[in-house]
Amino acid sequence: MEKFKTYSIKDVGKKVEIKGWVNTVRDLGGMIFINIRNRSGIIQAVIKPENKYYELAESLKSEYVVSVKGTIREREQKNPKMKTGDIEIDVESLELINKSLDIPFQISDNTTALEDTRLKYRYLDLRRESLQSNFILRSKIMKSARDFLNNLDFIETDTPILCKSTPEGARDFLVPSRVNHGKFYALPQSPQIYKQLLMLSGFERYYQVARCFRDEDLRADRQPEFTQLDVEMSFVDEDDVMNLCENLVASIFKEVKGLDVKLPLMRMKYDDAIKDYGSDKPDLRFGMKIQDLTEIFKNTTFGVFKTVLSEGGVINALVVKNNADKYSRKDLDKLLDYIKKYGAKGLANIKIGEEITGSIATFLSEEEIKELKEKLSLENNDLVLIVSGDYNTVKTSLGALRCKLGHDLNLIDKDDYKLLWVTDFPLFEWSELEGRYLACHHPFTMPKDEDVDKLLTDKGACYSKAYDIVINGYEAGGGSIRIHDPEVQKKMFEALELTDEDIKEKFGFFVDALKYGCPPHGGFAIGLDRLTMLLAGTDNIRDVIAFPKTTSGQDLMCDAPNYVDDSQLEELKIKTTE
Ligand code: AMO
Repeated sequence: MEKFKTYSIKDVGKKVEIKGWVNTVRDLGGMIFINIRNRSGIIQAVIKPENKYYELAESLKSEYVVSVKGTIREREQKNPKMKTGDIEIDVESLELINKSLDIPFQISDNTTALEDTRLKYRYLDLRRESLQSNFILRSKIMKSARDFLNNLDFIETDTPILCKSTPEGARDFLVPSRVNHGKFYALPQSPQIYKQLLMLSGFERYYQVARCFRDEDLRADRQPEFTQLDVEMSFVDEDDVMNLCENLVASIFKEVKGLDVKLPLMRMKYDDAIKDYGSDKPDLRFGMKIQDLTEIFKNTTFGVFKTVLSEGGVINALVVKNNADKYSRKDLDKLLDYIKKYGAKGLANIKIGEEITGSIATFLSEEEIKELKEKLSLENNDLVLIVSGDYNTVKTSLGALRCKLGHDLNLIDKDDYKLLWVTDFPLFEWSELEGRYLACHHPFTMPKDEDVDKLLTDKGACYSKAYDIVINGYEAGGGSIRIHDPEVQKKMFEALELTDEDIKEKFGFFVDALKYGCPPHGGFAIGLDRLTMLLAGTDNIRDVIAFPKTTSGQDLMCDAPNYVDDSQLEELKIKTTE
């Protein structure tokens, strides 16, 4: 198919044959203008009344498939909005290749059709130029990653899709086995165990473009099935893996976007990310760090703060520079509503003007005002937003508020990319729901050397050799050095309160394997959909997945999931209840 994207005025006089879809057809004063669209873009073709194909042209409708032959000529009325807007094809012959039904929505990037309609007719939606360019980008990213890893002697290998569950935080999708009644496979949440076993098998350097499946609640950056660029290496430490990963990401940025990523990437410890940004994936495209005011309010007379401090809580704030006048009481109430989702109970504010105003102004002593002004470098028209409570709630809610304000106040340059590593994650996180510690990454993550002895005695104080690569506030990838010592692995499972029986039943094969000479190893996985999303400049993961699911996990096009025939269930010996 002819690639006319680059055709311009310099191609005038050239004979061309263009095949594609009728984007629009207009009859203007006797002349018929057909905009033909294919992967390469849109180009205008013109048919004069004396042309023997004129009648055929009159019968064309949107999305008919056509072929035109003709000569490129300069347009009389140029269209600066079109890439090929300086030229058109003077049609010599026109062939109708196939017809189309009337389309349910106009195929255009300005479409107003609802997303559900577009997902039902995804094959039509995918004809849109912006979506096509996302998939061209996705394909370039994959090629670039493969080239990079192949050049460094990595082996690309598939691992099973029907496998045993690897617990990584989400629910498994289960597949019943027909020949083993009552037994189920799990779809892989990631190839984690397999890639570690490949290291044990001596592959040394492995990668895979791996489909992963997680039955978790969906968000704008999450799908139940997604793709990881999964990497594992033997005889490495944290620096080796992070170096390789950041060079891989930098080479993708350079190759597909022409952008230089400055290496080495900045590294931020998890505890610092939470302290300063209230998030383990801080968006560094703007400032507005979280400020700790606990010390300033140690003698406060304000009842709420007093109670919080007596309970060992903290008082933290964000400073919104030069915008106090923009926030009415109603606006501030809306901000409070927003952070309530994160557990915050209140949002106090101070506005700096000739006089200090705001919800807690009357409770502030001269000394506190002086210290606040100094610590926060406050100036006229600054707004201070304060949350008090337990450490985690305060950090999480101010972290979320910071991101909201960054967007609301246009503090973010959309063309900017800020990459960093977040390192030194806690090994465990406390689950209120389960009443026990869970693995923060997954149970194969190596503890920091100095914490191995604390695995069973002081779980809350253990840190791991895990790292996440964060881009513009998204977790684009993550990984760790793994446990290669069977004794440490066993201890780790014990720390997660798995009984000997559980360990044997769920991971027996893996613990046994570790006993056959396992090399030290580590790796990472980049979320390919998320990386594509970031490079395509969209915040909707569905824009970079060809056939995505809705937030309720449905494929609206083929109507999945769906009921199956009774005979299928019978074969599987499965009964459903209402
Ligand atoms: P993790 O669970 O952090 O690590 O996943 C790695 C990356 O995959 C992407 N990702 C997702 N993308 C879209 N939809 C989802 N539901 C989804 N879940 C995760 C994210 C994330 O950073 N086995 C480990 C990797 C390792 O340790 O090597 C793992 O899967 O971008």
